Amino acid sequence: EDARIRQMKKGHELAASTYHSILTLTEEGAPGRVYAQERLFTQDQIEHFRIGYALNDWETLAVIFETNGLDLAVMAESGLLAKRKQGTGYYDLFRERLMFPITDSQGSVVAFGGRAIGEGQPKYLNSPETPIFHKAKTLFHMHEARPSIRKQNKALLVEGAFDVMAAWKAGVTNVVATLGTALSSDHAKLLRRNAEEVILCYDGDRAGREAIRKAIPVLEEAGCKVSICLLPEGLDPDDYVKQHGEEAFVRILDNECLSVMAFRMLDLKQGKNMQNEGDRLQYIEEIVQMLAKLEHSVEQEYYLQQLAESFTLPMDVLRQELSRAERLLK
Ligand code: CTP
Ligand code: MN
Ligand code: MN
Ligand code: MN
Ligand code: MN
Repeated sequence: EDARIRQMKKGHELAASTYHSILTLTEEGAPGRVYAQERLFTQDQIEHFRIGYALNDWETLAVIFETNGLDLAVMAESGLLAKRKQGTGYYDLFRERLMFPITDSQGSVVAFGGRAIGEGQPKYLNSPETPIFHKAKTLFHMHEARPSIRKQNKALLVEGAFDVMAAWKAGVTNVVATLGTALSSDHAKLLRRNAEEVILCYDGDRAGREAIRKAIPVLEEAGCKVSICLLPEGLDPDDYVKQHGEEAFVRILDNECLSVMAFRMLDLKQGKNMQNEGDRLQYIEEIVQMLAKLEHSVEQEYYLQQLAESFTLPMDVLRQELSRAERLLK
């Protein structure tokens, strides 16, 4: 590890303490505290996630880095400062935001996410890709969640930092997030190195549904056993905990997760009018095609039974269809 990298990490550590102190100890941090209160953050969460506040000021960090003898050009390369277009010197990139540090596998702070206070734009500002921060290899809260993920042999994967914080508050400590990037094969391998099972709990909206569809094969490719927790329309885990409470969230995670196949059976109904005969037949055909690809005949039989029941079809007809689909696959 060279001096440049060490300096970047030292600067990030300094930045994390600075933002956290501003939020928790200073008068100027009041807007951050008001927003944290609106989002119902507890003291425990603020401490565990080291939540902070970046002032509406152009050189809080620049001055602190300078005082501590850090090279401002290096800190700019690490994504915390930018070079002034006019004149000389550097300014802070994160301003007037609730800040959460992002750690690497060692637990060193290597990046930040910044949430605008209220309606400010853009809603999120995240550190760019830098020599110490690789988005496609980093999962938010992985270092902190690792012991719990290993112990339970299971990880909960959510979209955003606020979702991680909500789950953690509900006692679900084995939780990590991708933070706005698509799940990469490196993310999936990282999860698989620590657990066999991954529960996907993405936002209950179009984007979340699409992200689930994309994440499943990536996780399966890495050897993860996947299950899916679908949230009601319009809610993400943070909203869900707020609306229905922590116990309800834990309950749906424990009792209402779907297998990949069950998810697909549900998902394939989207965009189809199940009252329409043509759509219904197409749906049955698509499910049979999918079942043909399953390795285990117990599983095949199980879902075939479900199909038979929901459409009041005789099992032997469905079995014939399945055999035909299997032959076509070979
Ligand atoms: N994200 C981002 N930039 C955006 C929107 C989203 O980087 N403009 C990332 C953030 O990491 C965010 C995640 O994608 O946490 C999920 O997006 P979204 O559901 O819109 O954000 P929430 O986490 O639900 O934010 P909030 O509850 O504060 O509205
Ligand atoms: Mn503290
Ligand atoms: Mn969303
Ligand atoms: Mn969300
Ligand atoms: Mn949210």
